[in-house]
Amino acid sequence: MSVENCKVIDLPKISDPRGNLTFIEGEEHIPFQIHRVYYLYDVPGGSERGGHAHKALHQLIIAMSGSFDVVLDDGKNKKRVHLSRSYIGLYVCPMIWRELDNFSSGSVCMVLASNKYDEDDYFRDYSEFMLLRHQK
Ligand code: TYD
Repeated sequence: MSVENCKVIDLPKISDPRGNLTFIEGEEHIPFQIHRVYYLYDVPGGSERGGHAHKALHQLIIAMSGSFDVVLDDGKNKKRVHLSRSYIGLYVCPMIWRELDNFSSGSVCMVLASNKYDEDDYFRDYSEFMLLRHQK
C-alpha cells in the first residue's frame, strides 16, 4: 500500500449542452463498493482537513466544486495531488496518511468510502502511523 497505489481516476462524463453528467458505480469505475458518502463544504480559507490514515478504508475524493490539494504520504514517499474537476476522482487506498489543504473559496469535497464510519479504523497519531509503516 504505497502512494503509487493511489490513482487519479477519470470518471465517465456525458457531455451535454444542457449540462454535463458524471456517474460512479462501485466496483466498476472505482475498486470498491460504496457504503458511505460524505462531503466537506463551507471550508474557511487556510483550513486543513484530514490529518489521519485509515487501516482498511478505501476512498475516492472528488472536488465537486472549486479546488483543493490532497497530500498523500505512505511513510516513505509523499505526493501532492491538485483536484479541481468534478469528473476526476482520487482513489486513496488503506494505510495512507492524507492531508487536504489549499481549499478555494466555495469548494466542496465529496468522499465515497468503502465502509461506514468507524473511529477504530483511524490512525490519528502520525508517529504511531510511521512506526507501524516502518515495521512492515
Ligand atoms: P474526520 O474524518 O477527522 O474529518 P476530516 O478528515 O475530513 O478532517 O471527521 C471529523 C469528525 O466528523 C469526527 O468527529 C468524526 C465525524 N465523522 C462522522 O461522524 N462520520 C463520518 O462519516 C465522518 C467522515 C466523520
